[in-house]
Amino acid sequence: MKFFVDTADLDEIRDLAATGLLDGVTTNPSLIAKSGRNMLDVIAEICDVVPGPVSAEVTATDVETMLLEADVLASVASNVAVKVPLTPDGLKTCRALRDRDIMVNVTLCFSAAQAILAAKAGATFISPFVGRLDDIGLRGLDLIDEIVDIYEQFDTFDTEVLVASIRGPAHVVEAARSGAHVATLPPNVLRALYNHPLTDKGLDAFLKDWEATGQSILEQAAQRSAAE
Ligand code: G3P
Repeated sequence: MKFFVDTADLDEIRDLAATGLLDGVTTNPSLIAKSGRNMLDVIAEICDVVPGPVSAEVTATDVETMLLEADVLASVASNVAVKVPLTPDGLKTCRALRDRDIMVNVTLCFSAAQAILAAKAGATFISPFVGRLDDIGLRGLDLIDEIVDIYEQFDTFDTEVLVASIRGPAHVVEAARSGAHVATLPPNVLRALYNHPLTDKGLDAFLKDWEATGQSILEQAAQRSAAE
């Protein structure tokens, strides 16, 4: 399963890229607004830090303007995936961009029917929003199961399921169990994946016992090479 990080905060992206676990980045207009920065500058900098797909979203709603915006976004770097909303114009834009081999992330997916349309439009990624479905009393992860299952029935569907609107580690684990290709995680959720109280407790005990021996691996290595 690939991990993308869902943020436009460069400090966070640099920090998480250093983990070696980051395969890409997703942004949206709200995240760009939160960064308080010029969109094209932010996207260019993110693309320099992360070689994998970096989603940058169009802000127009008609196909002609979406295509103009998409050209601008795609020209920023070769790893930009243009993000379009799941609307009739968004999917027309998707088809046109895919015919030119530009990566497309179709966003704001809330149903399996929408996901089928996106796959037929040739989307590189479909982004179902699990957290926002949970927010209205549905089970967002059921939609992930459903889409993965449907996509597996058809060899002609190349679209990857990119689980978005993730709120916690349980969403990531369940999405992985469903076989989703990608999860886009808020930085705090990616960091939370490391945590388990028994890891902390076990490490504390190992270090305490080790300290009591008075030994040092590096000192022992230095002594051995000095003796050779
Ligand atoms: O980038 C799209 C998605 O991940 C947004 O998540 O938390 O605003 O529902 P959220």
